Amino acid sequence: MLILGINAYHGDVSAALLRDGHLVAAVEEERFRRVKHWAGFPEQAIAACLSMAGARAHDVDVFAVSRNPRAHLWRKALFALGKRPDPRLLTDRARNHATVRRLHERIAAALDVPASHVRARLEYVEHHPAHLASTFFASPFGEAAVCAIDGFGDFVSTSIARGRDTSLVVRDRVFFPHSLGLLYLAITQFLGFPKYGDEFKVMGLAPYGEPRFLPEMRQLVRVLPTGHVRLDLSYFSHWSDGVAMTWDEGEPELGPVFTTKLDTLLGPRRRRDDALESRHEDIAASLQAVYEEAAFAVLRAAHASIGLPRLCLAGGCAMNSVANGKIRANTPFRELYIQPASGDSGTALGAALHAWHARGGRREFVMTHGYWGPQFDDDAIERAIVARGRDVTQRATRRHVADEQALCDWAAARLADGKVVGWFQGRMEWGARALGNRSILADPRRADMREIINVRIKFRERFRPFAPSVAVEAVGDYFVDAVADPFMIHVYPVRPEKREVIPAVTHVDGSGRLQTVSRETNPRYWRLIDAFRARTGVPIVLNTSFNENEPIVHQPAEALDCFLRTDMDALVMGNHVLEKLTD
Ligand SMILES: [Fe+2]
Repeated sequence: MLILGINAYHGDVSAALLRDGHLVAAVEEERFRRVKHWAGFPEQAIAACLSMAGARAHDVDVFAVSRNPRAHLWRKALFALGKRPDPRLLTDRARNHATVRRLHERIAAALDVPASHVRARLEYVEHHPAHLASTFFASPFGEAAVCAIDGFGDFVSTSIARGRDTSLVVRDRVFFPHSLGLLYLAITQFLGFPKYGDEFKVMGLAPYGEPRFLPEMRQLVRVLPTGHVRLDLSYFSHWSDGVAMTWDEGEPELGPVFTTKLDTLLGPRRRRDDALESRHEDIAASLQAVYEEAAFAVLRAAHASIGLPRLCLAGGCAMNSVANGKIRANTPFRELYIQPASGDSGTALGAALHAWHARGGRREFVMTHGYWGPQFDDDAIERAIVARGRDVTQRATRRHVADEQALCDWAAARLADGKVVGWFQGRMEWGARALGNRSILADPRRADMREIINVRIKFRERFRPFAPSVAVEAVGDYFVDAVADPFMIHVYPVRPEKREVIPAVTHVDGSGRLQTVSRETNPRYWRLIDAFRARTGVPIVLNTSFNENEPIVHQPAEALDCFLRTDMDALVMGNHVLEKLTD
């Protein structure tokens, strides 16, 4: 049975394809469109998934869409009557719902099959159950508490469920307009980061500050003993003013979701081009602190309600890797699973898994790695290099290294020599993180590397941290209380005695957002890290996503573009090696 999961007309639209319950392909539309968080319809992602599976549109048994416009209609109606929001808010939402209800026509047009064919196979899976399914049904756990926390989807911002074998039973929900994701978004906007998805920048900024605004932040949000989140709505405008919100084809846009009362509480808001001052860092630190307090309270309530020691987490807030790394210390949960696309792109996977188990499908699939996207063989890579002609030949040397160990030794030597190396291998990553197949790598031992990459390669804010990829065997030698995480979604303290050893991947507060790399799930990347260890004694490389203010590169031509327009020193694509000529 082929099930195509689709996230459409939301942020980070995407597709995922299951064959008999096993994931065979998953990819975000932004990688093809070259615009971050692309909204609208994931036409190219769908085509790529079918192509990777060698399947045709006619073969698809179920089209599972991670939205359900009919969900919680009564609540929505009661809200509209009681709160009397701006009519624009209602019209915007009605338009989006109408688009989602006509989705079968859009899918049919994209795949060149009759609309009736799609309609007969179309299943709407509510947004939050799709989040829940995306984590629990991909996890190795037979039973677990399952929690999704995000901005909103289908009128819900938090849901708690009990997962057992093939069933997921939702026990509790937090409804619009109360939301922890919305709280994080509001302060992110207040701090002058207006773009969709900028929350992670504020999370990176937080360790530079002191949480001296914590008392003020606590006025914005509280968590009831039941685990229900409550915002003080006088600080927020999303529920009343008709926030401009676009989910059409293109970059998602959200208008401001906070009121001027927030300027009174925290001091004047920062405009986008204003200097970043210590006050802003303190506000970021206070936001992160209050978010953690609230999220842990929600999770403790979930534990009390479900009574199981394992937790599966999803939703945009599960991207908060700093909070994730502290869950075991701050809640009774002992084991945690988060799949790499925990944000909205992951709902395509969740909708598909939900549909599979709703049809009595067995649980056999566990997601142990994040490599579910397109790949390119050496011939395709060579064609891309040759197509760039003199752009390449005038600026770089080029050779082909067939032996994998020699290739890894070569790259490890360049890294140890302080070079920045693009590393393009195998299937592209699913989710927001580069996990060693579309990565830019460097030596973690060099304190100046952060500045070099932020300023000369990525052209981004100087405060942004870099992450370590560590051979899984050595994780305990370098990090405190860390467990293996192939998805780079938990931050842990670097051991104090190791902070001097790997300064480029140790954040200002002594932490690191690590990825563990194993021989089984990414043999070539593991071998590279091992070659670096053999040379330097350190089984870690600095890993940042292969891009420059754009989505992660998808195909060789984009990797080549990024290599040529930045100060990257070398590029390894498959077995092809390029090295810039020195002047
Ligand atoms: Fe969501």
